[in-house]
Amino acid sequence: MAVKLNAINFQSPKCPSFALPAIASPRSPKFYMASTLHSGSKDVRTVKKPFSPPRKIHDQDFLPYPASEEFHDQVKELSERAKEIPDDFFVVLVGDMITEEALPTYQTLLNTFDGVRDETGASPTSWAIWTRAWTAEENRHGDLLNKYLYLSGRVNMKQLEKTIQYLIGSGMDPRIENNPYLGFIYTSFQERATFISHGNTARLAREHGDFKLAQICGTIAADEKRHETAYTKIVEKLFEIDPDGTMLAFADMMKKKISMPAHLVYDGRDDNLFDHFSAVAQRLDVYTAKDYADIIEHLVRRWKVEKLIGLSAEGQKAQDYVCGLPPKIRRLEERAQTQSKQAPRIPFSWIHDREVQL
Ligand SMILES: [Fe+2]
Ligand SMILES: [Fe+2]
Repeated sequence: MAVKLNAINFQSPKCPSFALPAIASPRSPKFYMASTLHSGSKDVRTVKKPFSPPRKIHDQDFLPYPASEEFHDQVKELSERAKEIPDDFFVVLVGDMITEEALPTYQTLLNTFDGVRDETGASPTSWAIWTRAWTAEENRHGDLLNKYLYLSGRVNMKQLEKTIQYLIGSGMDPRIENNPYLGFIYTSFQERATFISHGNTARLAREHGDFKLAQICGTIAADEKRHETAYTKIVEKLFEIDPDGTMLAFADMMKKKISMPAHLVYDGRDDNLFDHFSAVAQRLDVYTAKDYADIIEHLVRRWKVEKLIGLSAEGQKAQDYVCGLPPKIRRLEERAQTQSKQAPRIPFSWIHDREVQL
């Protein structure tokens, strides 16, 4: 029995600013996110075996191992090292950990994309296999950071757990509208953003003399880089087979702006927690408005957007818009920086209400 063939369905384009091709369009749907696997095929048999991702992050490679006799000494060493790290770094690390821990939301999101979703929860299509493997890998990030923070003794675990619970309960809405073009442009952007963010926390941990924490953040950053490579390759293929539709989707996603996965974060106290966390991340150079512009520029280069030819008039408009966006964002950011006053210090429940400058 052949596995159901999934093609992208654009029966109702929902992108007001840059409409995507309708299903009846001569351009549609060139892009079959389909599996033609047969249930008896080798590929399906492989899926029945436990999936082994190309790289696994084991907690015991980075953290004290509870079964070891040195466990308590190692925990003491870890917390001694953590004492040398400033509070603002912990605010950012906690925010990164909480973002990773809201993974159920992201797997749900991927399974909203038409044509590539995991139809059964154990679907043998390549798309579903990828999504489950990606989820398994991402799951290690939140686990590892959470365990490190628990052992560090620097954070209010009760508040962290509460925040994670609120965030998963709130979900997220990046306005992808079930559209895999928008979806994979969004994930390409996000994976690079997390690669930058974890890479910078690794750098800061090193600067604060904690090489083990730097290794944790660096290893996670390396995973994000591989994820970015996978998603950008998918979009690269989309540009190859449907340049106009992909160009319109890229512009549409940029017009909507990339909302961060934890944009609905809440700890039960601070109504502007995401803004406050983002302000600290910006001040520490972990993730900034400049990074946002750099990512767009990187993707424009990666997908050779400036060199696309043969686009429709609407496609060309979208191309001009996207290519002109990075300098525009940088100018706005510079203006905001020169106008900004001295930022206040505010308490963060994540670190026992100690105050941190925004
Ligand atoms: Fe991650
Ligand atoms: Fe990732």
